[in-house]
Amino acid sequence: MASLSMSAHVAGGFVPTMFTAPSSAASTHCGTLSNANLSSCSTSSSGSLASSTMSGTKLPLTGLVRPVGKPAGRGREVIVMTATISQKSRGADLNGGTKEKHSMVTHSLAPEKIEVFKSLEGWAESTLLPLLKPVEKCWQPQDYLPEPSSEGFLDEVKELRERSAGLPDDYLVCLVGDMITEEALPTYQTMLNTLDGTRDETGASPSPWGVWTRAWTAEENRHGDVLNKYLYLTGRVDMRQIEKTIQYLIGSGMDPKTENNPYLGFVYTSFQERATFISHGNTARHAKQFGDAKLATICGLVAADERRHENAYTKIVEKLFEIDPDGTMLAFADMMRKKVSMPAHLMYDGQNEHLFDNFSLVAQRTGVYTARDYADIMEHLVNRWNVASMQGLSSKAQTAQEYVCSLPPRIRKLEERAQAKVKKGPKTGSFSWIFNREVALL
Ligand SMILES: [Fe+2]
Ligand SMILES: [Fe+2]
Repeated sequence: MASLSMSAHVAGGFVPTMFTAPSSAASTHCGTLSNANLSSCSTSSSGSLASSTMSGTKLPLTGLVRPVGKPAGRGREVIVMTATISQKSRGADLNGGTKEKHSMVTHSLAPEKIEVFKSLEGWAESTLLPLLKPVEKCWQPQDYLPEPSSEGFLDEVKELRERSAGLPDDYLVCLVGDMITEEALPTYQTMLNTLDGTRDETGASPSPWGVWTRAWTAEENRHGDVLNKYLYLTGRVDMRQIEKTIQYLIGSGMDPKTENNPYLGFVYTSFQERATFISHGNTARHAKQFGDAKLATICGLVAADERRHENAYTKIVEKLFEIDPDGTMLAFADMMRKKVSMPAHLMYDGQNEHLFDNFSLVAQRTGVYTARDYADIMEHLVNRWNVASMQGLSSKAQTAQEYVCSLPPRIRKLEERAQAKVKKGPKTGSFSWIFNREVALL
């Protein structure tokens, strides 16, 4: 059973930070020992997948993740090593140290399965790449921002400021949090390039997987740009604090627990693209309600990109289900059991240890992204991939199938309980992003 230890003063905001996923038969058996003790973690999920327990501020000892010559394959043992860093060494950590949470299972896909992705190159070329938009047909941030070379620039900025004056603080917190998440794009490109069999081997690889990753990144790059510039021009937010948060976040990276495994990686990205589609769609809707139609357009355009990207990543997983239903089912269950962590879960502004939890609570309260959305996305993916009706699975994969199908209602129930606990936390919190003004959390 994978559990995420909570260090926050509240029980967490999002489902991803507050619940322990119900266990499945495909669970792994890991012990995690502190202070550089070794821990053995054996797989039981058809061998291709493994998982480790994440625990608070335990950090990996680089280079000692697994024994040489012992790849994680079918039924093999994966060695996981974690260490708890001392308070003293935290002081030397550029990122404040306390937000680091890393699991260290690596290369969990069996070598023969890596070949699957080589064999899918033709498919990726014909099916995946057409889902990208040619640059000349893409919107650019400048299309929706005041034109700095124009004589009317200052008037346009004035208008923008008048429109955005009606945006409440809790909305700004959500928009800033979303923008910071987008701005940590280097981390997400890195994550995609950790995946065995699909990574961009050179940085300019002609493989369709490499082409996809670079063009996807290039499309995504516009999201942070447009939101950052817009927020800057509003004059409503503390840009220096926001910039610090982005620097901290990129420095911290993220821990999606995808184990260099493209099966897990593409389940993760399918989930995340939908999560961002929902979140940006909601900030679009709310911007309109608060009288800023241009901001609504911007957020809507970002949401539409996310939707297109979700379509691409879910197509990859759909294809994997087609050619390897057992392995894909086990991967889906494994990712869901470990929970899908939010990409910005290591967010820090140099001041607030609870920044991500508080941001999550505001997103939850305002309806920008809620615990219910988490369960809904999971249910959506179960339906999208026709998981419930899949036939001819091995008994392990059947157990995994039953597990994922049963999860959404179970998570909704757990979420209700977690919400009740959250109510006992602080009612308000201040955000450095908006000059330390207080915002209701609950
Ligand atoms: Fe994005
Ligand atoms: Fe995205």
